[in-house]
Amino acid sequence: MTHRKGIEKQTWKPGNVLSPAPPVLVSCGGAQGWKPNLITIAWAGNVCSDPPMLSISVRPERYSHEMIEAMREFVVNVPSLRQAKAVDWCGVVSGRSVDKFAGAGLTPAPALKVHPPIVLECPLNIECRVRQSLELGSHTMFVAEVVAVQVTTELMDGKGQFRPDRCGLLAFANGQYFTLGRRIGRFGFSVRKRRAAGR
Ligand SMILES: Cc1cc2nc3c(=O)[nH]c(=O)nc-3n(C[C@H](O)[C@H](O)[C@H](O)COP(=O)(O)O)c2cc1C
Repeated sequence: MTHRKGIEKQTWKPGNVLSPAPPVLVSCGGAQGWKPNLITIAWAGNVCSDPPMLSISVRPERYSHEMIEAMREFVVNVPSLRQAKAVDWCGVVSGRSVDKFAGAGLTPAPALKVHPPIVLECPLNIECRVRQSLELGSHTMFVAEVVAVQVTTELMDGKGQFRPDRCGLLAFANGQYFTLGRRIGRFGFSVRKRRAAGR
């Protein structure tokens, strides 16, 4: 169909086309007899500011689903370009048959508030406690409170700001991986007055 301004649109069947998604490494297990495991999750997002909460959606058949349901804790490790291969690999093999930390060459390190380990190499580690589980259909959405955050110090600037541009964060869209592109503005730039020329 051609709309005004000559922009032509196709019609697709309804599907999960919202993109890009953040591909994250979720660590789980590490207590109650479970060995630590990693699962790659693209369906993750912030859902509440106060209290800080995020959600991850996990298919019940995943090994990690059993652990998260039993322990009600996990860590969302936000990877950089350096962990891209591990991100993909942890999303195609199961912890039922392999030790993913060892196989991916990733280092488990203690979390501050939860039992599953953080992935030391990942720039951001977000420790979570499950508050609600929603069985939506193909996936269970675990809605969790963020109880602690760790960030790699070298990714902070002198003003105490986290610099995503220093670590090559990943994006997942249409089944493919990308890195963040160039910075085009700061929150609110659309309404901020431009500095007078020459100042
Ligand atoms: C980029 C990517 C994103 C994925 N996103 C999800 C997701 O959001 N939810 C999910 O249940 N599985 C997702 N998967 C699949 C799981 O990571 C995969 O089935 C994994 O092997 C499960 O590991 P486990 O059996 O050790 O839990 C994704 C895989 C990849 C490669």
